[in-house]
Amino acid sequence: MGLLDGKVAIITGAASGIGAAAAREFAAEGAFVLLADIDVDAGEAVAQSVRGHGGQALFLRTDVTRDSDVEAAVQAAVAEWGRLDLAFNNAGIDGVACDLDQHTEQDWGQVIDVNLHGVARCMRYEVRQMRSQGGGGAIVNTSSAVGLMGVDVGIAPYVASKHAVVGLTKAAALEFAARGIRVNALCPGGVATPLVEHTQQQGAGSEEAARDMIPMRRLGTPQEIAAVAAFLCSDKASYITGSTVAVDGGMSAGYPRPLRVAVPGSVG
Ligand SMILES: NC(=O)c1ccc[n+]([C@@H]2O[C@H](COP(=O)([O-])OP(=O)(O)OC[C@H]3O[C@@H](n4cnc5c(N)ncnc54)[C@H](O)[C@@H]3O)[C@@H](O)[C@H]2O)c1
Repeated sequence: MGLLDGKVAIITGAASGIGAAAAREFAAEGAFVLLADIDVDAGEAVAQSVRGHGGQALFLRTDVTRDSDVEAAVQAAVAEWGRLDLAFNNAGIDGVACDLDQHTEQDWGQVIDVNLHGVARCMRYEVRQMRSQGGGGAIVNTSSAVGLMGVDVGIAPYVASKHAVVGLTKAAALEFAARGIRVNALCPGGVATPLVEHTQQQGAGSEEAARDMIPMRRLGTPQEIAAVAAFLCSDKASYITGSTVAVDGGMSAGYPRPLRVAVPGSVG
């Protein structure tokens, strides 16, 4: 018995990193998975590898900034498997990294359109489908540890978008709680994926600096995030809605930089 046996799921940003790990995890737990992403080659490859391991998966090129794409992704899941039970709204970009006073309107627009409006757009069509089935469902939106706290590495639009995802998630959870649709936000910390590499290539921090911000002193793996997404989508999480769940090695619990120096009597 898998955690998600027979459930139909959409995962956005499923071609890479956390979304790809989630596609594998959800399928391994018995879900039928519609992988949605703009990266066709990588998305098809992930879907194929899921099927190669005996899972049920379908890729559809989906740009979460386009209403018609998102609607088509929901329709494709329903056409293939008859319904929609779960959604992991996870597609996201870091955007341009620079000081706040250097960011352009375009920088802001891109990040907000993918990270915030993309999640809202996905929920619009997902919830419509779930309601048309008579209610019931679970949605997880990817925010970030920097949806709970600020950072000073030049990614203010990203930080703002991820804070907004937390608010959006809470509002949606309240609206749909009585209809049996649970909505939660997942807040990963530093996770080794192409997104983080891209941020660092722009000079916004380094792997070492990222680790210094993490009490557990290591980046997370995409699998560690995917496992919690699957749990939040599962019936094991049946009383959890409107929550923000940090999966961040302790990062959002405090701000350990600069590194803690040994104090007399401490154990290191
Ligand atoms: N990696 C981290 O440290 C970290 C930390 C906190 C939150 N997150 C969030 O996790 C999510 C996944 O990021 P990741 O680290 O796996 O990055 P990633 O770059 O590996 O994956 C992101 C995926 O989203 C896709 N995507 C981008 N724009 C899209 C669009 N308009 N429509 C559809 N798909 C689109 C990309 O093609 C890519 O496959 C993002 O929302 C990110 O902000 C990541």
